Amino acid sequence: MIDKQRPDWNATIQGMFSRISRHYDLLNTLMSLGRDRHWRKFVLKYAAVPPDGSLLDVGAGTGKIALEAKSTYQDIRVTALDLTPDMMKVGKAQAGGGDILWINGDALELPFRDQSFDAVTSGFLMRNAPDVKKAFQEQFRVVQPGGRVICLDTCPPKYHVMKPLIYLYFKIGITFLGGMVSRQWDAYRYLPESIQAFKTPQELAGVMESAGFANVTYRRFMFDTVAIVIGERPPAA
Ligand SMILES: C[S@@+](CC[C@H](N)C(=O)[O-])C[C@H]1O[C@@H](n2cnc3c(N)ncnc32)[C@H](O)[C@@H]1O
Repeated sequence: MIDKQRPDWNATIQGMFSRISRHYDLLNTLMSLGRDRHWRKFVLKYAAVPPDGSLLDVGAGTGKIALEAKSTYQDIRVTALDLTPDMMKVGKAQAGGGDILWINGDALELPFRDQSFDAVTSGFLMRNAPDVKKAFQEQFRVVQPGGRVICLDTCPPKYHVMKPLIYLYFKIGITFLGGMVSRQWDAYRYLPESIQAFKTPQELAGVMESAGFANVTYRRFMFDTVAIVIGERPPAA
């Protein structure tokens, strides 16, 4: 049973992602049937960072969004923040890793001044965060008025006709694949549990609105199991 309110939650998350850091990218691509890059490209398209602008990727992990951003829009400044140094170590070692500013920090207490970035993204972070609204509030605080915040995550497919098969894939396919490749069975038992316990795209959009965002919309992918939720910090009056 997942208890994100436990005082040692961040340490648990950090330990788990440290242990799977070397296999994370491969497993992410295998489990998404190669679609993960496509979703991250959408995230960046919706982020609409202006030329010479700045992007913060929260819960950046191995930097998949940050690296894609820097290789697509060379003239932007990209900052990647994550709780787990071992995940960032993998990203730093990749081509283009040196062009990104990597910061070890907590999504619930972003170490940046108000309105520091033109856009803020996150990929598969929110499911792990103990307080989703607080995480969105922090992203709202650090994004410029008029800037966008984009959240990519895996969500439970509440009403999809394929739901039984999808749950079977989550419970058996993901756990087996992840466990076999990484040998970290607990981490890949946690993954489907965290998806099932998470919010639907609609609920996630509601939390984003309650954190102050305007024009909140979402898009679903892969039998409604993956969502990109987009919100705007209203322009200054
Ligand atoms: C599933 S990985 C996603 C990595 C990357 N964003 C991607 O698209 O593949 C989740 C990442 O969120 C990080 N994380 C979890 N809780 C966090 C928090 N409170 N603050 C910052 N990072 C956090 C973990 O360390 C991990 O690297």
